[in-house]
Amino acid sequence: MSILITNIKELIQVEETPRTWVAGKEMSEIKTIKNAWLLTQGDRIADFGTMENLHESIHADELINAHGRMVFPGFVDSHTHLVYPASREIEYIDKIKGLSYEEIAKRGGGILNTARKMAEASEDFLVEEAMKRLRTIAAYGTAAVEIKSGYGLTTESELKMLRVIKKLKHDCPLEIKSNFLGAHAVPLEFKGNQEKYVDLIVNEMLPRVAEEQLADFVDVFCDKGFFTVQDTERILSAAAQYGIRPKIHANELDYSGGIQVGVKYNALSVDHLEYTGDAEIEVLKNSQTMPTILPGAAFFLNMPYAPARKMMDAGLPVALASDFNPGSSPSGNMQLIMSMGSILYRMTPEEVINATTINTAYAMGLSHEFGSICRGKRASFYITKEIPTYEYMPYSYGDNKVDRVILNGKVWK
Ligand code: NIG
Ligand code: FE
Repeated sequence: MSILITNIKELIQVEETPRTWVAGKEMSEIKTIKNAWLLTQGDRIADFGTMENLHESIHADELINAHGRMVFPGFVDSHTHLVYPASREIEYIDKIKGLSYEEIAKRGGGILNTARKMAEASEDFLVEEAMKRLRTIAAYGTAAVEIKSGYGLTTESELKMLRVIKKLKHDCPLEIKSNFLGAHAVPLEFKGNQEKYVDLIVNEMLPRVAEEQLADFVDVFCDKGFFTVQDTERILSAAAQYGIRPKIHANELDYSGGIQVGVKYNALSVDHLEYTGDAEIEVLKNSQTMPTILPGAAFFLNMPYAPARKMMDAGLPVALASDFNPGSSPSGNMQLIMSMGSILYRMTPEEVINATTINTAYAMGLSHEFGSICRGKRASFYITKEIPTYEYMPYSYGDNKVDRVILNGKVWK
């Protein structure tokens, strides 16, 4: 199966040779081809070029005339919690009335509220609900997504969540990676006895997760009121013995030491980063860890914004992901994340394109396959509606600018 797309007004985020990530000043550049064609072969991008150089000998099973619309690589959303049993809009009212995320969590709301419902939910129901969300984000242009457990908080319920993610990997054309987040919150029965819960994660949950090969990554919510640096070290060093690489929640609520411990254990990414100062930036330099900002959560919770500009000025890469979850970011719309990146964090259109494609692809171990239009990479991209410029993408916030989606070389929508 091959598809030839012709008359593309502009082919965005083109790469001749794949890069692992884009950092510092380079983030303000993207490569594009105007008046372009693109050819897929099987599930791969086979070739591309300008219309003037479209050779007559190029044939494909299916021809799509883009009629002057643009083609972007699919978004890569490297941080979500999109398997959950129910929304939490009632808590959101408490939030509007002034209760903080931590206060809601202390009252047994928040993550624990979702965990109670998770215990009751069937795998089939969870798969069905998550599939609806995956279809929605695909329609907004997402091609690859990381999904965390962390609403189970018992061995049985965490394994259930991870099996649901495994089923989604199999059933859904989006590329999915799973992340075991047993250390998302301390269950009420372990209050005041937190190290016993960490024991359970290390001695019971992790061995089962590893044995059933249910997790690509391991996560810890290393922050004030949640898990300490010591807890995090125990979990990450146990996971390292199974060869599971960390991607962790860090510095959302305080200077938690999460960034430092993440880098120490060679985390693929550290995520949130509202509390990032000079010391944290210094540690991230010369590391293999992608600093990942989650604008949806900061916006929804009215949190301070992570210092994106300062990070890029220091030469760091920056990634932007959705954090799609029922408590702090109930949307997985990556177009909106791009807009938030530019409006709230003052990132340029080029910077937010890099931050939501190539850099998030790195942050989920997929930069060889996703994140750009590059020969040999996965043919997972979208054709826009009629838009005047690529800068229009972050500018026009709220609307869906995606017209057609191609996933793995097949027309999806
Ligand atoms: O990434 N920060 C921790 N966990 C999620 C929130 C999950 C929830 O409230 O349900 C987050 O924002
Ligand atoms: Fe999160």
